[in-house]
Amino acid sequence: MSDTTPKAPAQTPPKRLFIKTYGCQMNVYDSERMADVLRPLGYGVTDAPEDADLVVLNTCHIREKASEKVYSELGRIKEMREARTEAGGGRMGVVVAGCVAQAEGEEIMRRAPVVDLVVGPQAYHKLPELIARTARALGERLAADFAPEDKFDALTQARQADGVTAFLTVQEGCDKFCTFCVVPYTRGGEYSRPPADILAEARQLTDQGVREITLLGQNVNAYAGQGGLASLIRALAAIDGLARIRYTTSHPRDMDEALIAAHAEVPELMPYLHLPVQSGSDRILRAMNRQHTAETYLKLIDRVRAARPDLALSGDFIVGFPGETDQDFEATLDLIGTVNHAAAFSFKYSRRPGTPASAMAGQVDEAVKDERLQRLQALISQQQLAFNASQVGRTLPVLFERPGRHAGQILGRSPYLQAVHVDGPQSLIGKIAPVRITASAMNSITGDLAPEAVGAPA
Ligand code: 5AD
Ligand code: SF4
Repeated sequence: MSDTTPKAPAQTPPKRLFIKTYGCQMNVYDSERMADVLRPLGYGVTDAPEDADLVVLNTCHIREKASEKVYSELGRIKEMREARTEAGGGRMGVVVAGCVAQAEGEEIMRRAPVVDLVVGPQAYHKLPELIARTARALGERLAADFAPEDKFDALTQARQADGVTAFLTVQEGCDKFCTFCVVPYTRGGEYSRPPADILAEARQLTDQGVREITLLGQNVNAYAGQGGLASLIRALAAIDGLARIRYTTSHPRDMDEALIAAHAEVPELMPYLHLPVQSGSDRILRAMNRQHTAETYLKLIDRVRAARPDLALSGDFIVGFPGETDQDFEATLDLIGTVNHAAAFSFKYSRRPGTPASAMAGQVDEAVKDERLQRLQALISQQQLAFNASQVGRTLPVLFERPGRHAGQILGRSPYLQAVHVDGPQSLIGKIAPVRITASAMNSITGDLAPEAVGAPA
C-alpha cells in the first residue's frame, strides 16, 4: 500500500444541524438527503436553530415573496449567531440551499453576509466538500488534529537518515475531494513546504549517505513552491551525492508540462510514476469527482511516455464503487489493458464516514467486489510479471540498499523500483552498479554484477 492510505477520521465532537425546509415535497426530500450526506461528517439534526453549528435554509421559489421570507429569516439567524458567539459558543455556519439559492446566489451573498455558502439543488452531494472548503477558507480546521506547519517545523530540526534511501515530505493535504476519500477532511487543504526547507533537509540526508529521496505528498505533484514540483526536482538533482529522485502520490490533474519535461531531461528523476486513475469508466470517474476521464488519462500517459519512453507506470484502483456495473468494471480492465502497468495497488471500495460516496445509493455487494478485485489483480499480476520478465537480458543501474537474505547476496533497486537480488560484496551498499538481469519473478528480478561494476563501482 502506498503511504497515502486513508486513515479513519479523527474523533470529532458531534455537531448539530438545523434545517428549515420551505415549499414542496421535493424540498422535504432534499433536506433529508442533505442530512444524510452531512451525518457522516458528524452532524446530527436538531430542531433548535439557536444551538445549531450549521443552519441550512432549504428555500423554495414557488410562493410569492419567497426570497423576502428568506432574507428576514437570515436576519433572525444573524442575531442568533451573534448571541451564540457572545455566549462563547462555537461558530454557526449558515447555508442557503434550494431554488432561491439557485436563482439568486450572488445576490444572497451580497445582501446577507451572514451566509457562508449558497448551494443549488444540483450540488447537494457536494455539501461536505463545500462545507469543508468554507471552513478552511475561514481558517478553521475540520477534523485534523495537528497544524501541518508545526509538524514540519519539528521534522526539519534534525533528520536522522536510516540507510541509503529516504522519504521526504514536501506537501500535505488535498483539495480534490474525491467522493470516496477522507483525506481532504482529515488532513485539510493542500499545504506545501518552502523549497529552502526541503533542500536543507535533503542536504542533511545526503550528508549522511542517502543516495535516493522519494518526495512525499498526498498530492505531491500539486506542490506549490516556486516553479512547482519540476523546479524542486531540478534543484534537488543538483545536490552532490543525490543520485535518484522519485515522488509519490500524484493526481492526473496536476501533471503539468514542466513535470513531464523533467522526466525527459533530469537523469536523476527515475522512470517510475505512480499515477492513480481509480477507474476506467467515465460514469464512475464522474461519481468519484476525479475531474478527468479515461481518455484524458490515457492521453496524459502518452505524453509522459513520449518524454520518457521506458517509464514504468503504477496506479491505484478501486473496485465496487457505488453504482459500478459489470460494464463499468470492464472499462477499468480495458484501461489497464491499454496502459500496461509495471505494478499497481487495488482496493475494494469501503465506506469512509464523512465522505459523499458513503451515502450514495447503489452500494455494491461484498461478493461482487471480491470477484472484481480478484480479476483485476490477476490482470495486474500478469502485467507485473511481464514487465519484470522484459528486463531479462538488459543491464540496469542498481542502487544497492542492504544485504540480502542469503549470505553473499545484496539487495538493490532498479530505476523502475524493482527489487534486484545480486551476489556481490557489501561494499557496494550505497553505490550504483550495472547489473545484467538474468531472471525475473513476480516481486523481484535477479542478475549478475556486470564485470566493470566489480572493479570500479560508481
Ligand atoms: N475505499 C477503497 N479505497 C480507497 N482509497 C481511498 N479511499 C478509499 C475507499 N474509501 C484508495 C484509493 C487511493 C488509495 C491511497 O487508497 O485508490 O488512491
Ligand atoms: Fe483522496 Fe482524491 Fe485527494 Fe487522493 S486526490 S488524497 S484520493 S481526495
